[in-house]
Amino acid sequence: MKAELMIHKNFVIDEIDPRIYGSFIEHLGRAVYGGIYEPTHPSADEEGFRKDVLDLVKEIGVPIVRYPGGNFVSGYRWEDGTGDKSKRPRRMELAWEAIETNEVGIDEFQSWAKKANSEVMMAVNLGTRGIEEAQALVEYCNGDEDTTYSEQRRQNGFEKPFGIKTWCLGNEMDGHWQMGRKTAEEYGKVAAEAAKLMKLTDPSIELVLCGSSNYNMPTFGSWEMTSLDLAYDYVDYISLHQYYHNIRDRYEDFVGRSVHMNAFIKSVAAICDAVGAKKHARKKINLSFDEWNVWYHSNGDAYEKWKTGVARLEDIYNFEDALLVGCMLMTLQNNCDRVKMACMAQLVNVIAPIMTKNGGGAWAQTTYYPYLYASRYGKGETMRSAQKSEVYRTTDGFTVPYLETSVIHDREAKTLTVFAVNRSKTEDMTLLLALDGFETAVLTEHVELYHDDLKAVNTENAEAVKPKNRALPENDREILLKKHSWNMLRYAYGTVDSYEP
Ligand code: AHR
Repeated sequence: MKAELMIHKNFVIDEIDPRIYGSFIEHLGRAVYGGIYEPTHPSADEEGFRKDVLDLVKEIGVPIVRYPGGNFVSGYRWEDGTGDKSKRPRRMELAWEAIETNEVGIDEFQSWAKKANSEVMMAVNLGTRGIEEAQALVEYCNGDEDTTYSEQRRQNGFEKPFGIKTWCLGNEMDGHWQMGRKTAEEYGKVAAEAAKLMKLTDPSIELVLCGSSNYNMPTFGSWEMTSLDLAYDYVDYISLHQYYHNIRDRYEDFVGRSVHMNAFIKSVAAICDAVGAKKHARKKINLSFDEWNVWYHSNGDAYEKWKTGVARLEDIYNFEDALLVGCMLMTLQNNCDRVKMACMAQLVNVIAPIMTKNGGGAWAQTTYYPYLYASRYGKGETMRSAQKSEVYRTTDGFTVPYLETSVIHDREAKTLTVFAVNRSKTEDMTLLLALDGFETAVLTEHVELYHDDLKAVNTENAEAVKPKNRALPENDREILLKKHSWNMLRYAYGTVDSYEP
């Protein structure tokens, strides 16, 4: 199979906001307890955080982490997770039927985030609580005045404000599973009022309005229209959430799901613009794709209720999952003019690229690698590209090219990074590249993620799926992409001698 990819130096989509490589830690299963936090673990630091997990997180480079939920946040009292640990309440956590000990709260999490070189994307509870508690949390975290909440933070050992810039106005408020679910009218009104108070408290923060829980929600579209209509002036982003599955084991459909993701993004951007147009608004609402991933392997797994740190949603990801994750990351990069934040949901143990064993090791799932390379090397501006590729039709009517790509230009480093997936299950592909304006660019690295077996997985002791460096071809504008493979091509056009991969 042959395919072509063309770019021109002057044709750019936009600068990538690094926050599109964000992730998510929820108080759910073993994400916090037994994931990032395990005081009895041999690698635990003085605060009880696992250093082996921190190392794997830092290796990726996760610029922002959403916290503390998810469904969890809709029943959460943030005060429970502050101050003297010995006095913190134990609560029935209704979203995931667990016991929340509150050993970790915002006091600890903001410290973990600093250690991970990440920012916190904080969610407020607009389910069981309201605008007053949301305002108080901003004051506790970011306040620097002489007030009770700021003083409480200081008393708890944090003289300087946490300086949390990004805030989510609740979580999936349209979902029947959500504590304190609301209609779009109810939500739009409360979100606007919460936003008003939160921004009065700290005008520098940015706010994310909840969009639909996913594209298939019956109210998708009208939810966005109504809630945005009510909250437009107070918010900066609207959220998108989407998980994909391969329950029917249809490889082609599954790896083509990023085409659906792309259509979803375009639809939400169009709705934002339609509401803006109706309002004669100068301001644009951008998108925060703050939950995305593959999620289905763990569906139906049994679990013990009303315990802490019990395994939940522990998907073991296989190689084809990594291919789709790679394609989804390219979709986010190619939509960087509207998607300014995105969170792979989640980060550790719970539908996550990083797994741990209690008291044991921490390791990288298959999906870890496309995430790591996108985050590390997908910096700069996404190029507007044209591609020619054969296509196929999914059983539900989507047209999917065999080739998926994104091209990122880093002006400072003088590099071009091409991410490419060959979706074909059976055929290798020769990719012809026309890099107009980059005539001096030379290929310096070709990293490939490939396994013969689409269902191959990584375990604590055996890393079956890991990237390999391929030998560089003589003609670096003609690249072989193996059947069902993920690839990263790095071109440098500075002094090649000074280039360090
Ligand atoms: O990420 C797992 C769950 O998926 C989150 O708690 C919720 O927001 C979504 O439905």
